[in-house]
Order: sequence, then C-alpha cells, then structure tokens
Amino acid sequence: MSEATCPVCGGAGWRIVEREGVSAAERCECAIVAYTRVNWKLANIPPLYENATLDNFSLGHLTSPSAVQALGQVLIAVRTYAREFPQVEKPGLLLVGDPGTGKTHLAVAALRILIGKGFQGIFYDYQNLLDRIRMGYDSNSGQADREAYRAVLDAEILLLDDLGAHRVTEWVEDTVTSIITHRCNHRKALIATTNLVDPEIGGVGAGRIQLSERIGLRARSRLFEMCKILRMPPVEDYRQRRR
Ligand SMILES: Nc1ncnc2c1ncn2[C@@H]1O[C@H](COP(=O)(O)OP(=O)(O)OP(=O)(O)O)[C@@H](O)[C@H]1O
Ligand SMILES: [Mg+2]
Ligand SMILES: [Zn+2]
Repeated sequence: MSEATCPVCGGAGWRIVEREGVSAAERCECAIVAYTRVNWKLANIPPLYENATLDNFSLGHLTSPSAVQALGQVLIAVRTYAREFPQVEKPGLLLVGDPGTGKTHLAVAALRILIGKGFQGIFYDYQNLLDRIRMGYDSNSGQADREAYRAVLDAEILLLDDLGAHRVTEWVEDTVTSIITHRCNHRKALIATTNLVDPEIGGVGAGRIQLSERIGLRARSRLFEMCKILRMPPVEDYRQRRR
C-alpha cells in the first residue's frame, strides 16, 4: 500500500515518466518499498534472524587467518549469488556445516537481498514444515497446513532451514522428494541449510549422518543439481562464543 504522504505520486503508487517523448506509468519508489516490506512479513523469518544481513556477518572474531579466508569465501559466494540472482547458473544454494557456523544467518541474509529485488520468498524450518504438512493430511482441520505444502511448492524462493533434521520415514522421504523435484523441475530457487554430511561435500566420518540417509538418494541428487553447494569451514560455534 502506498503512503498517502509520498511527495512523488501523492499515494497513488504510480508516477508518470517520459521516455523518448512518450509518457508511461511506472511504479513509484514508495510502492516498491511498501511491496518489499509486505513480502518480508510474508516470508515468516523467525525473530532471531530478523536482523541477519551479510553486512553484520562478522569474520573479526575468528582467530586463525585460514578460518577468516575460508569463511570470507563463503560470504563472497553468498553475496555473488544474491547479487546475480536470477541470472545464476544454479537457482539454489545449499549451506552445509556444523552447528553455530552461521548457515541460517547467511541463508536469511541472502533471502533478504532477493526480497529487496522484488522476489517473494518463504522461510520454513524443515521439521516444522513436515509436521504441518502431516497434520494437513491427518486431520480435517488441516486446510491451513495443506496451504503450507502448496506454499513450499509455489513460492518463488523457498528457504528450507535444517534440511534432514528429522527421523526418516517413507512418508518424509516421499514428501521431501516431491517438494524438491517440483522445485527442481520448475527451476525455482531453493536456499537450504543442513548439518548433515555427504561424500561429495566432505565431513563424512564414523557416526556422522549423511544427507542421503535422511532425505533419500533422489532428493539428494536433485538438490545437488539445482543448488550451488557452500561448505562452512570448521569455525567455532558462534552461539557458544557469545555465551
Ligand atoms: N559470523 C557471524 N557473524 C555474526 N553472527 C553470527 C555469525 N555466525 C553466526 N552468527 C549468529 O550466531 C547464531 C547462530 O548462527 P546460525 O543460527 O546461523 O548457525 P547455523 O549454522 O544455522 O547453526 P545450526 O546448524 O545449529 O542451525 C545466530 O544468531 C547468528 O546470527
Ligand atoms: Mg541453522
Ligand atoms: Zn510514491
């Protein structure tokens, strides 16, 4: 909605521009700002990450130069992806790494930039999403939760946080595969984060759960096809440091 006080358009949300002698209507800046604000609200970013940006993602707390270098490279890659989107080789981003290394922070920061460019996006915690979808199928009261399923299929950009953080059942595997397949087939952006490891990304070791064990081979394969993979370096947990 336009601000009634906008000095440019008087609140109409449109302004007349002259181009090569021809007048045309163009969205006023105030309408773009209002639209972005609405899209940010609709994205459902958790309050903890409301202020996460690329600019307040710090490297200054790291003690080793190699960690600064490695995390700095991830930061640059996220910035490049967000700047170039949608002219990117792969429409998605997968941030992989240990807890507290800043994956969700970076994912939200990227989504913020894309929303600022006029795209619509939605944040979903993986576990919460599956619970909601399941409720939608189990009960009659699930209209809203069926909407959750549609929303993750249709959103221009889906931020799926903590992918794979759920025990595996056939139902989970099928649901995740269908979401990822749909988005992959329609070349829709998916920004995902995960703690799980993968032979192709590294970190595989005794006792570590692999991505494919949790989401299945088919979803994993499509995820790799549609996402640029960014591996977080093994920096210390930012949460523990803050405490
Ligand atoms: N380099 C950083 N600069 C500023 N804040 C950071 C940085 N890394 C992490 N944080 C902050 O620390 C908290 C934990 O980071 P975040 O939630 O992004 O980690 P994560 O890798 O997603 O962890 P998990 O795997 O447990 O989900 C957040 O509040 C985040 O904003
Ligand atoms: Mg996270
Ligand atoms: Zn205006």
